Amino acid sequence: MKKEFTNNDEASRPIGVFDSGVGGLTVVKELNKLLPNEKIIYFGDTGRVPYGNKSRETIIHYSLQVAYFLMKKKIKMLVIACNTASSVSLPTLKRHFHIPIIGVIEPGAKSAIETTRSNNIGVIGTLGTVKSNAYKKALKKIKRGVNVTQDPCPLFVHLAEDGWNNNKIAQLISDEYLKAFKGKNIDTLILGCTHYPLLKGVIQKSVGDKVELIDSGKETAKEVNRILGKKKLLNSHKMTEKNHSIFYVSDLPHKFKEVSQRFLSKELKHVHKVKL
Ligand code: DGL
Repeated sequence: MKKEFTNNDEASRPIGVFDSGVGGLTVVKELNKLLPNEKIIYFGDTGRVPYGNKSRETIIHYSLQVAYFLMKKKIKMLVIACNTASSVSLPTLKRHFHIPIIGVIEPGAKSAIETTRSNNIGVIGTLGTVKSNAYKKALKKIKRGVNVTQDPCPLFVHLAEDGWNNNKIAQLISDEYLKAFKGKNIDTLILGCTHYPLLKGVIQKSVGDKVELIDSGKETAKEVNRILGKKKLLNSHKMTEKNHSIFYVSDLPHKFKEVSQRFLSKELKHVHKVKL
């Protein structure tokens, strides 16, 4: 896509990105690749992770707190990188704030519909994401006749965080979870959780080469590019030592730094602990 840059004040503001913890860095990685000039203010709710097994009310309450924090940083757009928070909090956040806000569900669903030939799509995610039926609803909104099979894979989050993403145990767990799709004739599988792109290798082995894996983070970065381009809010200034992305967490910044290496393949310098 042709990028339309603008140099006004608003365009030079950062993009806010939040997740329940470190997983949203898979989205940051895609944003950095596609939009290297964009400064990101990230919030990882490491003190309260996981969101995946919490109630709707709690997830909405946390999401609002995080969004208020990021709004104070004068962000020009908000990206909910967490699939669980996107599934349940997006409408509430859109009602509260008047900047562009997107989650990862619609971009992932759109890409799955463009990919499928059999109209049989699989979705894996946290318990919260699967229970919310957010992907199913988004898929059916685009194409009513599509068949959707969902399965929660909660242990994947721990495997990814601990670096156990490509060993025998990970393969065994993946094979066990993905049995749910046997006989469903799926040709497309949505990786509906921030952490799952790190387990792509074992997941692909479990479902076989013929199934296309959809990385919602990658699709979300494309959508951010499209929205900012349309609103003439893409930043043309290169990031500098002084004007760089900043990462905030609600607990254990050192652990965040350590684990972030696995997600971003680089060391993060600016990680700060804050109280919301
Ligand atoms: N970030 C979450 C998601 O994408 C996974 C971790 C959690 O349960 O909080 O759903």
